[in-house]
Amino acid sequence: ALERTLSIIKPDATKRNLTGKINAVFEGAGLRIVAQKRIQLTEKQAGAFYEVHKERPFYGSLVSSMIAEPVVVQVLQGENAVAKNREVMGATNPADAAEGTVRKLFAESIEANSVHGSDSLENAKNEISFFFAETEILP
Ligand code: CMP
Repeated sequence: ALERTLSIIKPDATKRNLTGKINAVFEGAGLRIVAQKRIQLTEKQAGAFYEVHKERPFYGSLVSSMIAEPVVVQVLQGENAVAKNREVMGATNPADAAEGTVRKLFAESIEANSVHGSDSLENAKNEISFFFAETEILP
């Protein structure tokens, strides 16, 4: 089915000027960027976005890393976009990521892993509405 998913190009990647290269991987996989903006997250926003991880030992460090530089938030649309984006991102830990995936190509570490993508269709809907009004999404 035609789906939408929320993607974030993280500070480690925006800092290294990799937005275009990462977008080329998404587009090459058949994902269409139907909304995109570069924003500076606040600590409050980053903390709320990753609320599900708040008991994890890496939460504080993750929130700090997400506000260190601007991020690019985007909506990707395509057939099975949620699963396709997860496939093209590769494993959370770049050491485990498959050849050709964004994290294998670009990620620095499990935390500085260059991209975030929604892990289910339900989370995709919530994460998209966290950043975008429906009027900002232009398929
Ligand atoms: P992301 O897909 O954005 O979801 C949660 C993020 O926490 C993850 O990518 C990593 O950037 C970060 N993180 C840091 N340490 C870990 C860890 N040990 N396991 C999972 N995620 C981690």
